[in-house]
Amino acid sequence: MVVASRRRGKKWWAAALWLAVASVALPVCAAPAGQDAATVARLASGIAWHRGGTVLQATALREGVVRIRIGRDGKLPEDASWAALAAARAASAPVSAVEQGDAVGFATGALTVTVARATGAVSVRDSAGHVLLRDLGAPFFAAPATGEGADGAQGFALVQAIPDDAHYFGLGDKFGPLDRLGRSYAMWNTDSYAYREGQDPLYKDIPFFIGYTGGVYWGLFVDNTWRLSFDFGHAVPGQLRIAAPGGPIDYYVMAGPDAKAVERRYAWLTGTPAMPPRWALGFQQSRWGYKTEADLRGVVERLRKERIPADAVWMDIDYQDHFRPFTVDAKAFPHFRQMVADFAAQGMHTVAITDLHVADLPHAGYAPYDEGMAQDRFVKQADGKPYVAPVWPGPTLFPEFTQAATRAWWGTLYRRFALEDGIAGFWNDMNEPAIFETASKTMPLDNRHRIDEPGFAPRTASHGEIHNVFGMLNHRATYEGLLAFKPGQRPFVMTRASYAGGQRYGVTWSGDNVSSWNHLKLTVPMLTSLGLGGFTFAGADIGGFAGIASPELLTRWYELAMFTPIARSHADPQSRPQEPWADGPQHEAIRRRYIEARYRLLPYNYALAEEAARTGVPMMRPLFMEFPQARIDGAPMDLNFTNDSEFMWGRALLVAPPPAPESPGAYQVILPPGGWYDYWSGRRLDAMRSLMTWGVGGQLIQGRDMDATTPHMVMVEPKLDQLPVYVRAGSIIPHQPPVQSTDEVPGGPLALDVYPGPDCEGVVYDDDGRSFGYRQGAYSRVALTCDLAADGRVTLRIGRQEGAYRPWWKRLRVVVHGLGKPPRGATLDGAAVDRIAYDAQAGTAAVEVPVQEAGGVLVIEPEAK
Ligand code: GLC
Repeated sequence: MVVASRRRGKKWWAAALWLAVASVALPVCAAPAGQDAATVARLASGIAWHRGGTVLQATALREGVVRIRIGRDGKLPEDASWAALAAARAASAPVSAVEQGDAVGFATGALTVTVARATGAVSVRDSAGHVLLRDLGAPFFAAPATGEGADGAQGFALVQAIPDDAHYFGLGDKFGPLDRLGRSYAMWNTDSYAYREGQDPLYKDIPFFIGYTGGVYWGLFVDNTWRLSFDFGHAVPGQLRIAAPGGPIDYYVMAGPDAKAVERRYAWLTGTPAMPPRWALGFQQSRWGYKTEADLRGVVERLRKERIPADAVWMDIDYQDHFRPFTVDAKAFPHFRQMVADFAAQGMHTVAITDLHVADLPHAGYAPYDEGMAQDRFVKQADGKPYVAPVWPGPTLFPEFTQAATRAWWGTLYRRFALEDGIAGFWNDMNEPAIFETASKTMPLDNRHRIDEPGFAPRTASHGEIHNVFGMLNHRATYEGLLAFKPGQRPFVMTRASYAGGQRYGVTWSGDNVSSWNHLKLTVPMLTSLGLGGFTFAGADIGGFAGIASPELLTRWYELAMFTPIARSHADPQSRPQEPWADGPQHEAIRRRYIEARYRLLPYNYALAEEAARTGVPMMRPLFMEFPQARIDGAPMDLNFTNDSEFMWGRALLVAPPPAPESPGAYQVILPPGGWYDYWSGRRLDAMRSLMTWGVGGQLIQGRDMDATTPHMVMVEPKLDQLPVYVRAGSIIPHQPPVQSTDEVPGGPLALDVYPGPDCEGVVYDDDGRSFGYRQGAYSRVALTCDLAADGRVTLRIGRQEGAYRPWWKRLRVVVHGLGKPPRGATLDGAAVDRIAYDAQAGTAAVEVPVQEAGGVLVIEPEAK
């Protein structure tokens, strides 16, 4: 984050210049293929096209995933990847041959790929005939780059048509509107202290997006680690341009038809997100500036004393001796191990930062340096000497994470913390890698990486190639190292930089954000986009990292963060305190209430986390993911919306923070078709005032009932202590009694809140929260459905428990919402349930029933007419 000058070599600018030229003035023409005629060969699951030196191979990996690789000099790029799983790359699906005029190709059940015989231009259609991808010409190859770091590599650009109705979502941590149409982006992991709206690139490189056209979604993942650029019709309207200064043309097209299907296919290709331990879903308190053991103990004590539920406390670089990774400042933390144990005894997990830079500290008994040097573990400069550059500890060295053996060595550095000190989680920061006192903020591009990795040919690679995967490989080394120590336990590792596929190694956050209303607002599209890119387990520093948060901003931030996957309060030393109690009892009470709400919702959140880890479908979802055809014209809800503030928290909850959070003015919340309930009061929305439906032609119709076909609008007067949250009619949401930590076993029954409506469903999931036992059947999943008959009878079907794990609850408290009158009675499997509590104000009826392994059918009988 500190920038000073250091002269960069001229050659790097040559490469950058090429990129700039390629992205604005790219001729769309045939590849320089000589005069040779093209040849086409059919492969078992695709085709190979060849003309001059250019070779193209298109293959089906499975029905909905095709891979396209293009090489020159008669060679395909190496079949190696840091992101796409080897098993996925080795997969193949049956295809049938397709010939279409001057194009030739193949079809799977879901996708048809054709290649123009003359040029090699590719088109991909779905089974309904929607054109998903259409090259406007052959790939454009640049002359071999000779610039610094270019490795003699050659650049390329692909130019594709943007259909008139297209929209694009994804690319990870981009800070602005969710829709990428009309904008351009660079992929280059960058330390971005106090970044601004539109600033690009930021910390991560996730070259995967979801496209929308003609009512369907599809995905494109370009597996190239170099400084890629994506231009979605910004330079030339109607043209999608993808360019890189080097590296392979190797991309994957994924079929939908809906966004969830694309996410599942992307997860199949690059891996599902690592299932975090349950405590990761609790509230977490951090700050750069907890300088001593007393500071940290004070924070934990206060959280518990003030009864603010919390699960983790974080140690930033302050705990280290001179900011040296894997050391502890014994003066400031005299009873380090005891402190961690004392926290653990209170259900508080300790997370410690361990950055990747190893202090350049010869003859000082500093093991990371001594071992690393002795084993030749560090990245080298172009001249072969170890690369040393300033970061927090002063001059430092950087492990060569592109080597499996170096990653294994890095993992061993965690032995003491993980096995003896009982640190529960780790934080890999600054791994873009960030370098101080240099204008580029990172390593010279001609640093040499020595790839020595199963699945890759051993070779040296420039930092220009490795830069974007460096942070991910650091994250991976930590994750796998912890796994080696404790194979049965889910590691918790948070990284700042990463690449596609990095979701396999843990969680991330949005880096050094700012205490501003705009940052709060843009947190929603930022985290939603990270989720679309696989990184669903992500958070943003509550209150903003840099700058001064007003009490109101901080309170609003706490509210929103409770509906995001990772809820961590964090700030830099110049910020004012941002702990929940920082602004007196009134603000604290609101913040506590929202944190408590998160803990009540833990069974729902945990099931969402498990679903994400199993399928790749993110926890935080754009509305279009749940309502693909919700608008009156059949288009998804949030396309053409300038307001990205609404989002779905799983299938059932719509969160609608103010689109201008600093403004006291009323705002509209648009709700997709179907009925809705207010989450906080539990009441059905059409029983409330200020509901309008969105009529045909866009006019608003007041006072009409909610129905399944038209969106609705609610006017909301913003109030500091209210974050509007709505429940989709047709949902069953589990809630648990209050606890102070996720380690605590809740007392009392599990509540099942039933919100009758169309396709009513829900799920209850549980496991031990920390091991991988769930993979061997040590989990409990119960499917729930409900229906509402015309006479008002509500039936809840509780499925048979799947899995062998015994959850903590023995009884269920079923709360049925939306009842205008007290019910006449209730039965469980036909037998009368004697006590029904009716709440006229909320319109709910509640009954308590025992858990039955085989499930059961609960019926709430309406009042006889
Ligand atoms: C970086 C991180 C920030 C951390 C600081 C000190 O700026 O992004 O979260 O507090 O370094 O470690």
